[in-house]
Amino acid sequence: DHGAEALPSLAGRHALVTAGPTHEPIDPVRYLANRSSGRQGYAIAAALAARGARVTLVSGPVDLPPPPGIEVRRVETAAQMLAACQAALPCDIAICTAAVADWHVASPTDRKMKKAPGAAAPILTLAPNPDILAQLAAAGPARPALVIGFAAETHDVERYAAAKRVAKGCDWIVANDVRPETGIMGGAENEIVLISPDGSERWPRLTKEAVAQRLAQRIAEYFSPDRS
Ligand code: CTP
Ligand code: CA
Repeated sequence: DHGAEALPSLAGRHALVTAGPTHEPIDPVRYLANRSSGRQGYAIAAALAARGARVTLVSGPVDLPPPPGIEVRRVETAAQMLAACQAALPCDIAICTAAVADWHVASPTDRKMKKAPGAAAPILTLAPNPDILAQLAAAGPARPALVIGFAAETHDVERYAAAKRVAKGCDWIVANDVRPETGIMGGAENEIVLISPDGSERWPRLTKEAVAQRLAQRIAEYFSPDRS
């Protein structure tokens, strides 16, 4: 029986993964959202669990089945996602793949907004959402040992991702090169540059599942450098 033993183990480690979009209510029937599928985050959660980690997956609204053996906390808004992440601490590893909405509607109405004849269209006032990755990276004694963010960039990928790593206080940034000419946006594959304090490493174009496995491998090596 080969294979399984060859994988560096994450047994005994607790990993927190955020995935999917958030939905920010406008009124009881409408919301602001984005096109995130959640697939990369779900694949990472599964890859970490396959290496023996206990995984808490905090997921926005997605159309994916919960990966087996993983504790899934379903949320809708960024505020709920932050609260679920804080409730999941302590953990050893935090991986923020979620496409968290940058803003929420400042005053969602508790009744459906109605058109009135001749009335002007409503103007939505937005307010900033909490930065979940930055808060996890600044969680003081509860800070996970390894905090990893994602960034999709259309140009100057390494420069922008390296700046984001510093600005957010996380350890690694998984930068997704979404230059329009790669045709990668919205597809099944990603083209990754992994940015760490040691520099940057460009990966070949890989499926999201293969990205997840390679990232889980890097994380396992980080925690057991001798056994990799
Ligand atoms: N992130 C987060 N909470 C937010 C916004 C972003 O946890 N409110 C995380 C994402 O999950 C991702 C990383 O921060 O891991 C980078 O997200 P991104 O949207 O690229 O960065 P922003 O700081 O929001 O900057 P901008 O969207 O303006 O490029
Ligand atoms: Ca953003």
